[in-house]
Amino acid sequence: MPYTLKVFESEEAFDRAAAEWVAARVRPGAVLGFATGNTPVGMYRQLAALHRRGEISFAAVRTFNLDEYVGLDPADPRSYAAYMREHLFRWVDIAPDAWHIPSGAAPDPEEEAARYDRLYWELGPVDAQVLGIGGNGHIGFNEPGTPFDKTTHVVELTWQTRLANAGPFGSPEAVPARAITLGIRNIMEAREILLLAKGAAKAEAIRRALREEPGPGVPASVLQLHPKVTIYLDQEAAGGVV
Ligand code: GLP
Repeated sequence: MPYTLKVFESEEAFDRAAAEWVAARVRPGAVLGFATGNTPVGMYRQLAALHRRGEISFAAVRTFNLDEYVGLDPADPRSYAAYMREHLFRWVDIAPDAWHIPSGAAPDPEEEAARYDRLYWELGPVDAQVLGIGGNGHIGFNEPGTPFDKTTHVVELTWQTRLANAGPFGSPEAVPARAITLGIRNIMEAREILLLAKGAAKAEAIRRALREEPGPGVPASVLQLHPKVTIYLDQEAAGGVV
């Protein structure tokens, strides 16, 4: 399988390496794919630091985020739009109209998914896509069972995902039941992919993604079929594969 895998001993080294991977691809005209969640928070902090030190500029870069919860206004602090502003965009020189994320406030989520998909093919595909992984192997919000040829769509989140993402919502019941996500087909169009995973809760998903036959039961297993994947793991997440 054509992927490169690195295991990091410290979170700082992990975050710095992830930021450097992205920074090396921040160049005029680049289209970057970004992910949310706890895993890349440190990577964004390091990217902001690189910008502060004058080492990178996002002025001529465009970005696409993977997903957003249906029903959350971009101003809602629990939205992924707010996450991106808070962790990266307010700290760097990206133009306000150069970053894209599905709108959780759109009156018709299906129509919004179709609009976002059109935009993706118009401006993309992305050069470099950062991905996290769910404990159930999801990428973006492509839950187990999602066909590999699916494009941007509205998804019904699994209970496991709502449980895992309950933090800012207070309870899994309060997590929106639906989301808009780029599909696996979109993700696979990226020229290069960086998959990040931290913590023991990801070890089994990583093991299955890399060791089992690719299939929709473990969405991240599709990455075995991509020509250029880099995987950064901490020691806990690497428990099943090294
Ligand atoms: C969330 C996001 C994914 C993210 C994953 C892992 O549900 N939709 O894009 O990669 O789950 O999140 P975390 O890094 O918080 O474990």
